[in-house]
Amino acid sequence: MTTGSLILAVESSCDETGIAIVEDGCRIHANVVASQVAMHAASGGIVPEVAARAHLRWIVPVLDEAWAAAGAGWDDITAVAVTEGPGLAGSLLVGINFAKTLAYVHGKPLVPVNHLEGHLYAAWLADENRDVAEPIFPLVALIVSGGHTFLVEMRDHLQYRLLGETVDDAAGEAFDKVGRLLGLPYPGGPEIMKAAAGATRHDVVFPRAWLGDSFDFSFSGLKTAARRTIATETDGEGTSIGGTALPGDRVAELAEGFQDSVVDVLVTKTLRAARQIGAKSVVLGGGVAANRVLRDRLAAGAATAGIPLVVPRPGLCTDNGAMIGAAGARRWEAGARAGLDLDARPSLPLARR
Ligand code: KG4
Ligand code: ZN
Repeated sequence: MTTGSLILAVESSCDETGIAIVEDGCRIHANVVASQVAMHAASGGIVPEVAARAHLRWIVPVLDEAWAAAGAGWDDITAVAVTEGPGLAGSLLVGINFAKTLAYVHGKPLVPVNHLEGHLYAAWLADENRDVAEPIFPLVALIVSGGHTFLVEMRDHLQYRLLGETVDDAAGEAFDKVGRLLGLPYPGGPEIMKAAAGATRHDVVFPRAWLGDSFDFSFSGLKTAARRTIATETDGEGTSIGGTALPGDRVAELAEGFQDSVVDVLVTKTLRAARQIGAKSVVLGGGVAANRVLRDRLAAGAATAGIPLVVPRPGLCTDNGAMIGAAGARRWEAGARAGLDLDARPSLPLARR
């Protein structure tokens, strides 16, 4: 993109306070993230009120650090972009009010951004560690996060057709819930990945919900199967929060079996969708895209199909400000503007069928 834009982007939809300065929707000048993960680990999950207060505590220091990293000032900034949804209402409001204040005081346009569009546009952030320069249309994108799991087709910028979505739990939510059942710390996703890497036997097979020819996903049956297995193997004790009576090797085997099931369904459906629409590239994004096994298997499958895969490095898959800057630049260029009445939209969808 050659708009010459320099976007200051604010992300606060869940439990990361992110501020970034992004040029032309692709070059990152600063991308500072204050994570609340360690704080929420103590309660085994996110308490919305606690998350909102932490955003308030950290948002100014995060901005200060972003300025220091970018070596830029307000004169250089084209617009302020901010996540308007989906996410936790209280958390979103902190970022929105902060961005509004900055835009008003410094006389900059305010650009509203859909968080899910941010996960998608992370694929356009410049990164030398990928096999294609940038995604090519038409493409299929799999977005897998803590709150969302869906497949979309894109034939051009900012145009989405929903191919499928989860009918129950999001993939990240399933990781987090099963992690908890296995007695692993919050969030379960990275912990299951680490535990699974230590498995020495590989014979645990959990069910896969294929749902016929549909591109929809379902993970609640898998979660129930994992819960039953854990309960049986621990005489019913395993479902308590904060620890199971399972030995470490067994935790590793079950973690691997669970991860295999999730990854198998995600990869198979994504590649089938890509073939069906004649995709010229596949994009992977969202927090679960930080998972090494998912990245590797989708890369292998896409390579076999001869379709380039674009997946941001793990730090750009989990929530951050740069992805909002990437989507914000496109939205800014397309004329999207918000007034000072911008409100949080906790259930904002990306696309409809
Ligand atoms: O996109 P994200 O940072 O926040 C939301 O918008 O939800 O995604 C967070 C989710 C959590 O459920 C977390 O467990 C999962 O992404 N996650 C992972 C990994 N890293 C983060 N899941 C599997 N493997 C990982 N390495
Ligand atoms: Zn996210």
